This record gives sequence, C-alpha cells and structure tokens, in this order.
Amino acid sequence: MPKEQFDLNEYLNTMGKYIDKKLKFFLPKDKSVISQAMRYSVTAGGKRLRPIFVILGAEIFGLQKEKIMSASCAVEYLHTYSLIHDDLPAMDNDDIRRGKPTSHKKFGESAAILAGDALLTESFNLLARAEVPNDRIVKAIKILSYYSGYKGMIFGQAEDTIETGKWNTKNISLCKKKLEFIHINKTSALIKASLLIGGVLAGAKDGDLKLLEKYAHNIGLAFQIADDILDVYADKKLLGKNGSDKDNNKLTYLSLYGKEKSEQKAKELILDAKKSVSKFKNKKNILEKLADYMVDRKY
Ligand code: IPE
Ligand code: IPE
Ligand code: MG
Ligand code: MG
Ligand code: MG
Repeated sequence: MPKEQFDLNEYLNTMGKYIDKKLKFFLPKDKSVISQAMRYSVTAGGKRLRPIFVILGAEIFGLQKEKIMSASCAVEYLHTYSLIHDDLPAMDNDDIRRGKPTSHKKFGESAAILAGDALLTESFNLLARAEVPNDRIVKAIKILSYYSGYKGMIFGQAEDTIETGKWNTKNISLCKKKLEFIHINKTSALIKASLLIGGVLAGAKDGDLKLLEKYAHNIGLAFQIADDILDVYADKKLLGKNGSDKDNNKLTYLSLYGKEKSEQKAKELILDAKKSVSKFKNKKNILEKLADYMVDRKY
C-alpha cells in the first residue's frame, strides 16, 4: 500500500477483528467457570496491540501471519492474564476493565486468579502450535517465559506493588530509577517479547532482533507513561477503566514528573524508537505510525 494511503485506524480495526476471530477459535468452549472467565476477559475487547506486534515481527522477515496466529493469540492470553491479576484487590483493586466489571467482580477472586493462571498456562500451548519449524518454537517459548517472568513483567509488577504507597518517603533520584525499571519491566517486556516472537518464528537474525528490541523498549516505556497520564486525564468511559493510581498512591510518571514533562519524555522515546526501525523498509511506515499511536491514543 502506498505510504500516503495508509490509515492506521483502519489497519488497527481490521487487524483487531481478525485477531478477535482467531482468539474465539482458540478459546475453550465448555461451560466450566474457569472457561467462562477466560472467555469473558479475552473477548471483553482491548486494543490487541501485542498480537499485532507478533504479526508485524513475523511479516518484517517475510512470514505470513496465517502461520503464526496461535502465537499471536498466545501473547494476548498472557497479557489478559496479567490484567486480571493486576486488577485483584491485593494488587490495584480495580472494578472496571475493558469497560466491564473486572474478573474478580464478576466471578469472585478465586476464579479470577485461576482464570489468569489458565490463560498463562494455555499461552505456552498456543505458542507451541505455531506452524513453523520446532527450533524456532523453542526460541519463542524461551522469549515468552523470560520477558513475562520473574526477570521481566512479574519483576516489574512486584516492584510496582512494593513501591505503592511508600515511594514518596524515598529520595527522588532513587524513585526516578525505580520508576523507569518498573515500567520497562511491567510493560516494555511483553511488547519486546511480542516483536521478538514474531521475528524468531520467521527466522530473523540476531542483529535485526536487537533493533526490534530497542524499538519495543522505547515504545513500551512511552506506552506506560501515556497509560499513567490517561489514568488521570482520559475520558473514563472511553478508557474502559476507572483510573486508580491516585487513590492507590502509585509511583507513576505523572506523580513524579507532572503531565508536561511526562509528555515530553514520552515524545522523546518515540523519536528514538523510530530510529531503530528505519532498516525494515517493508514495515517501517506502520511501525512508525504505531509508535506515535502508543502516546497519542485516547484509551
Ligand atoms: C494495559 O494495556 C496495561 C498496560 C500495560 C498499560 P493495554 O492498554 O494494551 O490494554 P488493552 O489490551 O487495550 O485492554
Ligand atoms: C499494569 O500497569 C501492567 C501490567 C503488567 C498488567 P497498570 O496497573 O498501570 O495497568 P492498568 O492501568 O491497570 O491497565
Ligand atoms: Mg498495576
Ligand atoms: Mg492496574
Ligand atoms: Mg495504569
């Protein structure tokens, strides 16, 4: 498609619908409470950015999305599990997600915990079902477990929880370091995993994977800065969440730097991110537009 004709909103819409169809195909069909809770949260909506990044990661290196849709859905499963657990009373204690009551509000805490566990476990099964040679699948499994695990997303979530309500008693430069660490791990890590999984499933070389990782590092951090700003300033109906950072006394870019400096920082990260993908001529335009979208979005 020529550059000037590319419409990102139309692209996100079309891809979102395609991914939703595949998610429905892979979801369990039985009537057990856990299966119902899995279906409830996965089909509640969401921008589907991480599955799109898996697809783009593969397409950059010439692999068609049809071969890797189970892997694309796998990261959305993993992401949805992280949201279900993030909303629990022991974490952010949120009542609304994707415009609907959170999983524990609808199904109770134990079912929400187990539905999250089930989505996490099943994500690895889905990843293993990608239609590519096994050695590539093994690499993808390692990536997903590393970036979503105790050295990645879970590390970020744990530090986020530890700092909640306590950060403002600490020295400001320590808070700044902690905050960047938290955001890179709780949010950039899964975006990195998504692009890298697409790349390794397509047989990408290490040097190219490094470029994708750098892009994901920067857009992921910018995405979470925007999330912090939206938590307070967005139209809550559009956002599909109530915004609880202030009430929870969270360590966020907004609470530490204020709106203007946070927006500035996010813009700089996006500029930096774009530099990493100039080599990938076939997808450069989409990746650049998506980078802007990470911070310009309304929800
Ligand atoms: C929310 O992610 C959690 C964060 C890491 C900020 P998204 O904003 O991508 O949520 P959905 O998937 O669109 O609901
Ligand atoms: C959560 O960050 C990141 C995850 C790994 C789920 P937030 O707590 O800011 O996400 P929201 O605002 O609840 O979506
Ligand atoms: Mg949280
Ligand atoms: Mg939260
Ligand atoms: Mg948030």
